Amino acid sequence: MLKTRILPVPDPDSLGRFRAPTSTSSTASALDHWDVDESAPGLDALVTAADHIRNTNVPVGFPTETVYGLGADATRSDAVRGIFTVKGRPLDNPLIVHVCDLDMLRELCDTDLPAIYRPLIERFWPGPLTILLPVPETAKYTLAPEVTAGLSTFGARLPASPLTRTLIRLADAPLAGPSANASTRPSPTTAQHVVDDLDGRIEVVLDGGACGVGVESTVVDGLCDPPVILRPGGISLAELRTASGWERVERAYHDVAQGGNAQHDSKVPQAEDVLKPRAPGMKYKHYSPKARVVLYEGGKTRAVSQEALIKDVRDAGRQAAIVGVVRTSSWPALAPNHEESLATSNGTMPSTSFVGKSEGVIYRLETYNLPSGPKILELDLGRELPSIAHGLFYALRDLDARGADVILIEGIADDSDDMASAVMNRLRKAASEVR
Ligand code: TXA
Ligand code: MG
Repeated sequence: MLKTRILPVPDPDSLGRFRAPTSTSSTASALDHWDVDESAPGLDALVTAADHIRNTNVPVGFPTETVYGLGADATRSDAVRGIFTVKGRPLDNPLIVHVCDLDMLRELCDTDLPAIYRPLIERFWPGPLTILLPVPETAKYTLAPEVTAGLSTFGARLPASPLTRTLIRLADAPLAGPSANASTRPSPTTAQHVVDDLDGRIEVVLDGGACGVGVESTVVDGLCDPPVILRPGGISLAELRTASGWERVERAYHDVAQGGNAQHDSKVPQAEDVLKPRAPGMKYKHYSPKARVVLYEGGKTRAVSQEALIKDVRDAGRQAAIVGVVRTSSWPALAPNHEESLATSNGTMPSTSFVGKSEGVIYRLETYNLPSGPKILELDLGRELPSIAHGLFYALRDLDARGADVILIEGIADDSDDMASAVMNRLRKAASEVR
């Protein structure tokens, strides 16, 4: 049993900067080299974490702009195996390789970066986008075979978080890093979430505050024609299509859009099982809180009335003492006294608390009882997509921690090729039942 410590990093933006390119060559880029500011406050925490990465086989928890990751030196097999052990992750699921700048990425490749990726790198890096590259035969850095799980490609990502880039620079190695949840759990978006899952299994978690995006990076393969999205994420299909060469990008993942998640509840094969996913991680049970999640599909929303929702909450309450309700774009508030008409039917006065105060987003949680019904935890994620994505995993984990037995969650329309696809992809995997 290890002692797990959270090391705060107060001002991630002060940690370093990209060096201005001095060469006028056509391949020179403003992302070529990340320099660390040796006098930045909080750097000592990163030095400690980087020492761990260099000298031990125990991975460290670190923030990125998407979710928290669990990092190890991608070139050392023993260190990479530590990630699989700590997470309980299946060995056939490859890891994303994080780099701090393009110079480091070039040192991982034995040829020039494929031209198809240049427009994406210019537009979306540093940021929540992972690109597949051929595994090189000879390069300065040789990836441990465990990173790629035997595939001929590896996923590379240059994160937007200056904290992540500084950690990689100090560790002086590309960082293999899956999300820092225990396998099958929702991804962590705060340092405390990492500790909730991995306490005693790792030694260091860097705390850079709550992650801004809240869902993982988009994984794309530009080595095939047309290029494809293997996992929806922080960069949307519509955004990708604006990049030259990516106008025809297609989805190569399959959501279980109807009938619930096969892995939870039934033996019926679903699209995902029949069509083998090309991102191996997409086939596993995922993002699941302890509570049973009931997802209401948002696309063809029949507006759900307050009355119908209260009836569903009561029905759920027959088998559950605590029912979580997560509102997004259109569900009415259920808590008593929000609307006069409900004051009589709705039970005890709610107590209101504010959770998830981060990145300017505040979620409101109302706690109350229905008369002769269950205790309700009603969480409002806001109506805007960035706020919903930002709070999604937070909500699942928060309601879990408060003891919810079942969570009714309002899905959102995902027919606009925007980030809603990533939100609904995660929710469909988390759900035991889809309505
Ligand atoms: O935002 C993110 O991407 C976060 C942060 C920590 O950077 N990382 C993350 O890693 O989500 P992970 O391991 O939880 O998810 C990686 C996904 C998996 O679905 C995996 O199967 C896929 O990327 N993947 C990685 N390498 C691949 C490859 N060579 N071919 C196909 N899929 C790959
Ligand atoms: Mg993950």
